[in-house]
Amino acid sequence: MEKNIEEILEVLKAKAVVLSEMLKERLAGYSDINNASGDHVLKIDMKADLLFGEALKTLKCVKGYVSEEQPNFVDVNKDASLIVTFDPLDGSSLVDSNLSIGSIFGIYEGGLKGENLVTALYFIYGPRLELVVAKKEAKHYVYVDKEWKFIQDFKMESKGKLNSPGGTQKYWDKKHKELIDSFFARGYRLRYSGGMVADLHQILCKKGGIFSYPATSDAKSGKLRILFEVFPFAFIYEKAGGEASDGKKRLLDIEVPSLHASTPCFFGSKVEMKEVSDVYR
Ligand code: AHG
Ligand code: MN
Ligand code: MN
Repeated sequence: MEKNIEEILEVLKAKAVVLSEMLKERLAGYSDINNASGDHVLKIDMKADLLFGEALKTLKCVKGYVSEEQPNFVDVNKDASLIVTFDPLDGSSLVDSNLSIGSIFGIYEGGLKGENLVTALYFIYGPRLELVVAKKEAKHYVYVDKEWKFIQDFKMESKGKLNSPGGTQKYWDKKHKELIDSFFARGYRLRYSGGMVADLHQILCKKGGIFSYPATSDAKSGKLRILFEVFPFAFIYEKAGGEASDGKKRLLDIEVPSLHASTPCFFGSKVEMKEVSDVYR
């Protein structure tokens, strides 16, 4: 299995390099622009979906994949055992404003359950192209001189200083607002871009803090999707020494009601996550 996972990683790494170059094209973010010959230019999310999806289809070890941009499970090889889930471009609404965005992947051995997740990774397209991949540890790499260079194993402290509160405040419930306010009252600093990859990556790089995307009155199950965004980051945070919950339960233990289902979610270092569970339980 290890060899097969490596094979998947090599293919994804190569395509992330291609995508990072595509993102530098002048019109990458603009979805409704027609090109010179009058063709509708494919939205960058769809291009990213195609890029990773077609690459996965060439691999014998892949049973199938599910993408945020595809309604259904895509079969690849019936006899294989590994399933890949992905958000080909996370934070795509930030492309126009030139903020950091990412691609998120989960690799499962067996069915699509948290306990079957064997590897999770994300690429971040910022000033540099970087990769974080978690198996036993959460390893951080940077792409320089056409090579992936290892930087560090992420190891979070038990407590941080950053507060990254997602969702529309007007729709937060009272206890959530009080929780977020109480972090600020104790000196936590606001760090929120609206791109989950960049926001969660920053907390890992600074070794602690809290990211939340709660249930709100306008989004009862939150916004972030279990398979494409939440499970991979839950896995990575745990491997980095942090925690991830839906407020009540460990995220990797929650059910997956459907391929595109979302869930409230909290990711952070241990002290902040204890406060989340005290408030939500
Ligand atoms: P995507 O670009 O894949 O649709 O995901 C965007 C997500 C995530 O990156 C971010 O944390 C969240 O949406 C922000 O959503 P709102 O700005 O709607 O709260
Ligand atoms: Mn996303
Ligand atoms: Mn997306």
